[in-house]
Amino acid sequence: MTNILNSGAEPPKVKLVTEVWGPIQSLMAARRNVLEIIPLAATKQPIVSGRTVQVRWHMVMEPDAIGQVLKEKLDIYPKSDVTKNLLKPAIGDSMFIAEGAHWRWQRRAASPVFTHRNIANLAPIMSTAADATCMRLDNANGTVDMYEEMVAATFEVISNVTFSGTGAMDSAEVHHAINRYIDQTARISLFDVIGIPTWVPRPFRLFQPNALKKMKGIADTSIRKRREQGAKPIPDLLDLLLDGEDPETNRQMNMAELRDNLLTFIVAGHETTALTLSWALYLCAFDPEVQDKLRIEAQSVLQGRSATAEDCAHLPYTEQVIKEALRLYPPAAFISRTAQANDTLCGREIKRKDTIMLPIYALHRHHDLWNKPDQFDPERFANGYKPKRYSYLPFGDGPRICIGAQFAMIEAVIILATLISRYKFTRIEGHDPKPVMVLTLRPEGGVPLKVTRL
Ligand code: HEM
Repeated sequence: MTNILNSGAEPPKVKLVTEVWGPIQSLMAARRNVLEIIPLAATKQPIVSGRTVQVRWHMVMEPDAIGQVLKEKLDIYPKSDVTKNLLKPAIGDSMFIAEGAHWRWQRRAASPVFTHRNIANLAPIMSTAADATCMRLDNANGTVDMYEEMVAATFEVISNVTFSGTGAMDSAEVHHAINRYIDQTARISLFDVIGIPTWVPRPFRLFQPNALKKMKGIADTSIRKRREQGAKPIPDLLDLLLDGEDPETNRQMNMAELRDNLLTFIVAGHETTALTLSWALYLCAFDPEVQDKLRIEAQSVLQGRSATAEDCAHLPYTEQVIKEALRLYPPAAFISRTAQANDTLCGREIKRKDTIMLPIYALHRHHDLWNKPDQFDPERFANGYKPKRYSYLPFGDGPRICIGAQFAMIEAVIILATLISRYKFTRIEGHDPKPVMVLTLRPEGGVPLKVTRL
């Protein structure tokens, strides 16, 4: 069965369910691609509820109700139990999954790490990664899987802002360990998140203890060495985190907390940014007019050099294209929570222990919120247009909004503008990527594009 629709005017999307499916049919579909279990109604209704064997779930698409979940009633809607149980072996009780006071102090301690100034200081690492990608593309011949390339580029960035310079390991070994680590984290079935019973076979079951141990060992060695050596001349994420302190309690992170948060940055920030760039490049190939317009902007600002943080303010169209890529293919396509008390959302009764899903993929294609929702149109974001609050959530919202959003946006703008200014990307007929939800929204089959040096 093919689930890809490609009507010419619209880039690939998942065919959403139109009929009522029984539990077994849902399970079968969900094992293929979690996005397939989103009913088409989720792009037209404010709330859709159902039950999957053990759990009552509600998909919420109405912006005010989403605001209740993400901001107003944070205590009633903490991160889902299953997300926490699954991620804990990998990233401990780090900022991503901690709740209440333990989350709050970590978030306060880490916030200064991601100030605009600190990110701008680290941006040369992003420009260097863009240049390194160009060198690889110059040596490649014709068709290149741009997903693999973007994973390599964002890996270079994240490893250079976390582990580099400590001599903890050689970079190939770190790369290998991180890849295995992320792969295992990403393979956690989204089914787990919506409470599919454990007897349903998963393609991959949790983490191999060895890969986890290896990764934690690398992180621990890096932290220890950096403590001995002192901060780098331009402090990176590890230095800034080592320095971080909760201004209210003066508490600093201990070794385990530092390591868990550092690993969280890697898991949360590496592949998500690679996906953003891969989908953006695919969309540029899909719509050559957009690509031409992007190139005119990039070439006139960059004049042959690679992009820097200072250029970002002068690359508004590049930012629009990235925002539109994040709308159509949000890397975090689901946000999930477990209700801790009875409540009402959109007039529907929510019971304690119900799973609340915010299907960002469906929200971003909702017919009440977006004009021609399935079409690629970066003009939607022209002139700094801000969508209605809680209708556009690639980075979530409320107090638990992505702490690395600005880091990711600057990185994506720098890499996309640099590449587009130097290469033409052409779509390969019959090889359009299919959006598939693992833990993130990935392009099945990669993003093979013909790359031509200009
Ligand atoms: C395009 C790239 C990225 C996307 C789409 C993305 C998306 C998200 C989303 C949707 C959330 C909220 C999850 C929820 O509420 O359940 C989140 C949280 C988080 N993200 Fe990102 N992220 C990206 C890049 C990054 C980067 C680069 C970093 C760090 C270097 C990062 C670190 C985090 C952390 C630590 C949290 C948890 C924050 C908290 O709970 O206080 N992310 N991200």
